[in-house]
Amino acid sequence: MRMSEPVIEVEDLHVHAGASHILRGIGLTVRPGEAVALLGANGSGKSTLVKTLIGVITPSGGTVRLLGASLADDHVPWERVGYVPQRVGAGTGVPSTAAEVVASGLLSGRRWWLPRGWRTRVREALEEVGLADRAESAMHVLSGGQQQRVLIARALVRDPDLLVLDEPVAGVDRPSQEAFAASVRRLVERGVTVLVVLHELGELAGIVTRAVVLRHGRVVHDGAPPHPRADHDAAGHRHVHPHDDSRPTPALTQNPVTGSPEEVAP
Ligand SMILES: Nc1ncnc2c1ncn2[C@@H]1O[C@H](COP(=O)(O)OP(=O)(O)O)[C@@H](O)[C@H]1O
Ligand SMILES: [Mg+2]
Repeated sequence: MRMSEPVIEVEDLHVHAGASHILRGIGLTVRPGEAVALLGANGSGKSTLVKTLIGVITPSGGTVRLLGASLADDHVPWERVGYVPQRVGAGTGVPSTAAEVVASGLLSGRRWWLPRGWRTRVREALEEVGLADRAESAMHVLSGGQQQRVLIARALVRDPDLLVLDEPVAGVDRPSQEAFAASVRRLVERGVTVLVVLHELGELAGIVTRAVVLRHGRVVHDGAPPHPRADHDAAGHRHVHPHDDSRPTPALTQNPVTGSPEEVAP
């Protein structure tokens, strides 16, 4: 029997930023319907890997194929990919409502108008993350966890086949963590392929089917998810860890998936 075509196929991927060798020969194959957690210590290269996957960072070596298309050839069907970046881009001027931010997820590089039925799709995506009642709320009045859920809805409104999320629950409130876990469970049941960067498995322990652990830019584990520690994940347990955003990002290229939500106010 022929195995179904991988959704993500990474071979010998290298990323340099200046003198530092950040990703050192990553290989990763993710098949349709898998729910993969990408784990590893702070600075191990998780964000660099997902940004390279979605085309924001240009690799210095190796190949990436997404949904059967090579990233280098620029034929990736981006409308089938949903991406939730690591941090909420806070405080950039124009106040957008939750519904506007979600609607911006329906735009693509080739289409600058909203498709028919967008209101329904936006409402459904907000329902999916448990925020239907906050559609008209300005983003800045929402909690950090709720803002994060809006960004997840923005990725979901595209009805993606592949959803990539970078630490979607880091530092968010408990209800948002639970809402997120429930969403991922439904998506996986629906056959969506999920790659999620996590600091710890937490709520997703029973949902992800596989864990890939990075250390110093290399894959050091690829297989069964680690068992959650019994004392972990008690109510109130939070991981807060700093991220150094002061560094410049290596070689940026335009990508329709990553357009900032503030750019659009439908
Ligand atoms: N633009 C950059 N220039 C130089 N070093 C960088 C840059 N971005 C990230 N790094 C370094 O690359 C490593 C991996 O970072 P990152 O992918 O953000 O890790 P993680 O998401 O696992 O915390 C870290 O050592 C980080 O300091
Ligand atoms: Mg990161």
